[in-house]
Amino acid sequence: VGHIDDVQELRKAKPTTIPERFVRDMAERPKLAATLSSPSDIPIIDLSKLMKTDQDEYQSEIMQLKTACEEWGFFQVLNHGIDLRMLETIEKVAKDFFMLPLEEKQKYPMAPGTVQGYGQAFVFSENQKLDWCNMFALGVEPPFIRNPKLWPSKPADFRETLETYSKEIRKLCKNLLKYIAVSLGLKGDVFEEMFGVAVQAVRMNYYPPCSRPDLVLGLSPHSDGSALTVLQQGKDSSVGLQILKDQTWAPVQPIPNALVINIGDTIEVLTNGKYKSVEHRAVTHKEKDRLSIVTFYAPSYEIELGPMAELVDEKNPCRYRRYNHGEYSKHYVTNKLQGKRTLEFAK
Ligand code: SIN
Ligand code: FE2
Repeated sequence: VGHIDDVQELRKAKPTTIPERFVRDMAERPKLAATLSSPSDIPIIDLSKLMKTDQDEYQSEIMQLKTACEEWGFFQVLNHGIDLRMLETIEKVAKDFFMLPLEEKQKYPMAPGTVQGYGQAFVFSENQKLDWCNMFALGVEPPFIRNPKLWPSKPADFRETLETYSKEIRKLCKNLLKYIAVSLGLKGDVFEEMFGVAVQAVRMNYYPPCSRPDLVLGLSPHSDGSALTVLQQGKDSSVGLQILKDQTWAPVQPIPNALVINIGDTIEVLTNGKYKSVEHRAVTHKEKDRLSIVTFYAPSYEIELGPMAELVDEKNPCRYRRYNHGEYSKHYVTNKLQGKRTLEFAK
């Protein structure tokens, strides 16, 4: 990534026109008026109801979770148990990192074909359109996936904060997977047992304001290659995340202190398509910037995956083949983001 492709630098220069590489073809441009006025009611799950012993509340919350996973692939979780100061701290170190001078951030460059470091991920050709976004991504767990050279020394509390944050998010993912299993009528520990030592990575996305949000995309449409994704939206950020629901892009309205959860490709495959890995994208805003901190939780690379026998029958014939998750991950990070195209790998 040169100076010219770094969107924060671009923004500083205040060009009167948007560089061609960011201008989307007609069909891809966000129809801002249409999408911003459409209501979004992505389901809300109250995790405290799933932690309590009240059977009625528990059952009804499990049912809501089931509907969320079947019909939306997305939900927001309240009372997730993560200390709100922790959420504030990670947001602060992420923002502080993005506000460093370009030279400092470029000490941690993203190597092509990887999603670790600072830069533009998923770019493979000169004529591919670029997202209006700066990314900083790191592998976190298990430790062997870390590239310590990419863990920044500034801001000073970045590494420790990410470490602590990731531990908390990991617990949340394990809990959510347990409830997701229960909502499918399965034993609570099926995913945990299947996944081995789960792989966890983080990606911080910073979207500067854009003078022409109607021409660009903050992040290209895609589904996630993870099992589960936990997304934290910055407190004062603009609305930017949109999910494809009934062929319409629906905005995800940030709820203070909530976390956005989405089902990734792994769970779609394991459930034979019953739970959906839904396409989503990010749009930009004319005056406001936006920050998101995204955690991807996935099985260990050596795991072989395919639809679970319990979810395949005459009415639901097997829709995906068995494959190795490491190979899928590799396939995912070496292809551009393009809707649900990476999942073709499993067909
Ligand atoms: C993502 O899909 O990874 C991030 C979208 C967002 O910034 O909300
Ligand atoms: Fe995503």
